Amino acid sequence: MRTQVGIVGAGPAGLMLSHLLHLEGISSVILENRGRDYIESRIRAGLIEQWARDLLTETGVGARMQREGMFHNGVYFGFGGALHYIDFRALVGKGYGQQEVVKDLIDRRLADGGQILFEVTDVSVHDFAGSAPKIHFRHDGEKQELACDFIGGCDGFHGICRPSIPATALTVFDREYPFGWVGILSESPPPEGELIYAYHERGFALYTMRSPTLARLYLQCAPDEDIENWPDARIWQELQARIGGTRSLAQGAMLQKGITAMRSFVVEPMQHGRLFLAGDSAHIQPPTGAKGMNLALADVLVLSRAMAEFYRSGRGELLERYSATCLRRVWKAQRFSWWMTQLFHLDPTHNAFDRKRQLAELDYVTSSEAAGRSLAENYVGLPVEI
Ligand code: FAD
Ligand code: DHB
Repeated sequence: MRTQVGIVGAGPAGLMLSHLLHLEGISSVILENRGRDYIESRIRAGLIEQWARDLLTETGVGARMQREGMFHNGVYFGFGGALHYIDFRALVGKGYGQQEVVKDLIDRRLADGGQILFEVTDVSVHDFAGSAPKIHFRHDGEKQELACDFIGGCDGFHGICRPSIPATALTVFDREYPFGWVGILSESPPPEGELIYAYHERGFALYTMRSPTLARLYLQCAPDEDIENWPDARIWQELQARIGGTRSLAQGAMLQKGITAMRSFVVEPMQHGRLFLAGDSAHIQPPTGAKGMNLALADVLVLSRAMAEFYRSGRGELLERYSATCLRRVWKAQRFSWWMTQLFHLDPTHNAFDRKRQLAELDYVTSSEAAGRSLAENYVGLPVEI
């Protein structure tokens, strides 16, 4: 098999890269080790930044999001027993599940004749230091080789692309947090039209929604927590204590629950020869700032433009600048995600001084126009510079 760009992974990064390349007249094949049903129902991100919403719409995959997604004009920060609204006004984001973005992109790629091979195994990447990279894999048990000009390493944090680059060529920046999140999906209506980030002495809690009847809720827990320790009744009790103090919470059938670890991680550079890392394969952050999927989409927008310039004019400057261009934005999102995380979480290394400092900062961002504007600018998404 041969294509121009071989892509490993059909998450938001891989699917959007393939879609954007197609619009530029560049062929690609996506290799995904999971099944289509699995990736279409994997519940993760819920918040799409303003520019990413525009990108989905402008490139023809935003119709269902426009119909079914929920707009947000601001967020609530809950602390001291009250809700404080931060009004983003013209700077809006949008709530729409990542699995829905994935479904829309898969539908569109297949309708446009795109090639996505699901349930491939034994994927490995080769010869990307030279000009003729190859991807080896098995499909339906058969060994195959995909020859390409470039490889898109879009296979997430636990993928094979990043570890295939010689460790001496990469620098890792890493921080683990002494807490995790219990996340649930519940069939219940929202207490408010907007998200609620709640600071509480029992730990952080977050209320978000996927539709007027579907709520997504998170609770801070221990980093190595076992979900078995969180029966439904305990989850509702904690949510009620941490968020319910400010608003009464409706309870509903729990459709899904799981634990998420908190980690900040960046690898530099995001490229080795003709292998380009994009999205979670290059960087992850705690979900508090809702940045992961948005960064994945920003990376592949930069990458698709750079590849388009290469195929159009033979010039490689944008490809050479790919890593530096993405990392400027990645680091600002890292900073914001870290900042939101340290602001809201109960940290075992904190003392009474830190709790007072957190409360003062919450008071500051919800009462100062300058601080609120800075928060809004980062929350709805910094511009993508190419
Ligand atoms: P992934 O979505 O991980 O996709 C990688 C794909 O590669 C997967 O389909 C995987 O099956 C496949 N793969 C892996 N290994 C191989 C292999 N060897 N061969 C072939 N295929 C392979 N982000 C936001 O922007 N907003 C939010 O509100 C938000 N909330 C979040 C809440 C939670 C609880 C969590 C866990 C994450 C959240 N995120 C959020 C982060 C977001 O989900 C990720 O950043 C996003 O999925 C990254 O997309 P990606 O395509 O880079 O990687
Ligand atoms: C969601 C997750 C987040 O981490 C966040 O900050 C906002 C929304 C969500 O899953 O909807």
